[in-house]
Amino acid sequence: MKLLLKNTRTLTENGEFEACDVLIVENMVQTISSFIEIEDVDRIIDCQERLLVPGFIDVHIHLREPGGEHKETIKTGTKAAARGGFTTVCAMPNTNPVPDKLETVQQLLERIKNDALVRVLPYAAITKGLKGEELTNIDQLSKLDIFGFTDDGVGIQAADAMYRAMQLAAQNGKAIVAHCEDNSIVYGGVVHDGAVSKRLDLPGIPSLSESVQIARDVLLAEATGCHYHVCHVSTKESVRVIRDAKKAGIKVTAEVTPHHLLLSEDAIEQDDANFKMNPPLRSKEDQDALLEGLLEGTIDFIATDHAPHSSDEKAQGMLHAPFGIVGLETAFPLLYTYLVKQNKITLKQLVDWLTIKPASIFGLPYGKLAANVVADLTLIDVEREMNIDKHTFYSKGKNTPFHNWNVTGVPVLTICDGEIVYEEDFHV
Ligand code: DOR
Ligand code: ZN
Ligand code: ZN
Repeated sequence: MKLLLKNTRTLTENGEFEACDVLIVENMVQTISSFIEIEDVDRIIDCQERLLVPGFIDVHIHLREPGGEHKETIKTGTKAAARGGFTTVCAMPNTNPVPDKLETVQQLLERIKNDALVRVLPYAAITKGLKGEELTNIDQLSKLDIFGFTDDGVGIQAADAMYRAMQLAAQNGKAIVAHCEDNSIVYGGVVHDGAVSKRLDLPGIPSLSESVQIARDVLLAEATGCHYHVCHVSTKESVRVIRDAKKAGIKVTAEVTPHHLLLSEDAIEQDDANFKMNPPLRSKEDQDALLEGLLEGTIDFIATDHAPHSSDEKAQGMLHAPFGIVGLETAFPLLYTYLVKQNKITLKQLVDWLTIKPASIFGLPYGKLAANVVADLTLIDVEREMNIDKHTFYSKGKNTPFHNWNVTGVPVLTICDGEIVYEEDFHV
């Protein structure tokens, strides 16, 4: 199979646009050049000067399969990923059964092989059943095709469990990826403990519940030499702890979500569970500190925490609905519109935070647009305007606080491993 992309624009290291043709042979980018003309290709696509970037990488999504297929499946979740321009996604283990032993991880890998439209790298659990007690067999599971270890959805409460998990993960060259939440100071909260919890008279989740656990864990990472990655950082104190830990030479990395970058608790006008996620939307100062942390490199990249739930579940309101919002199909348009176009970040920074940054931190051979690299590519119409309509999502989850938002900049073609996995009818 030979595919020729004519008339693209790529981003140079300096963030300038460069006119390019790109030849893909089988699953690899073979040639990138200002002008390619060859006869024997299977297909030529005129890209009409649209922006060609490496396929996006999201190390934090929930696919819900097995066990939660009414919320999402590997098929629907990866279709949503392809539409959002993502070619590699890492699936969280809070499923039923939990991938916490050889058999369940192997079964999950088999399902992925059969159903996934884009590359899915699954996590294995740190503790059996995500209960925080007994460790999984980290030595054994590390030999399988897993991305890393996490108990996302819950924090690991006992320092001893985290300590031993980090020792084993370090010996096996795997990362510990942590949802940081000290349950003893959550107090049944459902939104941030601050202006919004007071205004809506809802129980609040203190910022401390996150930062306290990160502070503990960076010390454990220092003691063990483990690569410790912090999920969805949401508070200014967490940013400071991670900044200080990096300064001390500790192997800590961190991600932030689009919603924590773009929203604060002030966006929550009423009891609407489309604004309920864990960690919650924090104060404006926290939101500002997250962008600052990203710009200065304390936070390394962006991940969506795509967390689909059914409409019935979300209709239960702030007190009873499950935590989580979807993100794959809105991430790039939102970040491009509200950060790049508002001159808060550059297009190059945004693309790097969605591609080469996560790839290089986790040692993945993807995330760059170059000859002799796997052809994971996303074509973006940066001028295209769109009104976000949750009813059009490929994801089963319609739980988004961004419904009806106007955005500019839409992925129109996604190629994963040399194959077109999403294609909008843009070139007619
Ligand atoms: O908002 C969230 N949703 N946070 C989590 O930690 C879990 C996730 C989910 O699985 O729905
Ligand atoms: Zn989480
Ligand atoms: Zn998550």
